[in-house]
Amino acid sequence: MSAITVTPCNGPGAEIGNVELAAELSDDDFAVLQQAFADHGLLFFRDQDISPEKHIEFAERWGEINVNRFFTPVEGYPQIALVSKEPEDTTNIGGGWHTDHSYDEIPALGSILVARELPESGGDTMFADMAAAYEALPDDTKEKLDGLEAVHSAKHIFGHQSAYKEDGDLNDRFGNEDAADTLDDVTHPVVITHPLSGKKTLYVNGAFTVGIKGWTPKESAELLMPLYQHAIQDEFVTRFQWKPGSIAFWDNRATWHYALNDYQGQKRTMHRITVEGCVIH
Ligand code: OGA
Ligand code: MN
Repeated sequence: MSAITVTPCNGPGAEIGNVELAAELSDDDFAVLQQAFADHGLLFFRDQDISPEKHIEFAERWGEINVNRFFTPVEGYPQIALVSKEPEDTTNIGGGWHTDHSYDEIPALGSILVARELPESGGDTMFADMAAAYEALPDDTKEKLDGLEAVHSAKHIFGHQSAYKEDGDLNDRFGNEDAADTLDDVTHPVVITHPLSGKKTLYVNGAFTVGIKGWTPKESAELLMPLYQHAIQDEFVTRFQWKPGSIAFWDNRATWHYALNDYQGQKRTMHRITVEGCVIH
């Protein structure tokens, strides 16, 4: 038996209580977390005291760690990506609706993000539920999406042509532009059957999806833009306010996220570990 509590949020996600992630988790405890992750695609933990070593250990329980090719690692911990904004930076990482790693043939399962240094206020993260967003679509839209494939790319985000780079801010936060430029674009179904929940889930996003396979840019935009607007309605969204000791663990195949950039002049530092995923279809 496990004493862990799972309290669903108003929007997507569930808050997990009565657990210390840095401690030894029994198989029963872990099974509760696995079920909650499959059900909600998004878990929040509070008041955790977790070292980088324990962060790595917890992540490895879920699968192999995906070492991000583009992010600067935390010093001494190549498995951990540094997601930070300095007081002098004006842009932030993840400051628009997106899901990570959709540009990979086998997209990462998700990430475990630990708050390390927070601004006095602001810096919340919003999450949107792509199964709920799909479910709420009108039937004729669902029919239209059936069988469509979307093309995903990382070049315009992490490559030499990145719009981020023009800003200058993020130059030292990302690297490996050559690798991004030579990555092959990949295709994924617009709607996937989620590998853990079995739910039909919208799997396109405004950051990495560059179009519908075989369609013109105009045709693609006409389909995708209204979908993106639909998906971020309040009823599909949870806004998470970080506190010292907070951790969020999201499923890239079930959710989008958006890091708010409303704390100019202050520092925010997060540690992210990404866990490998599986083939999706
Ligand atoms: C990320 C990201 C959100 C945040 O790490 O992939 O988008 O709130 N971060 O920092
Ligand atoms: Mn992200």
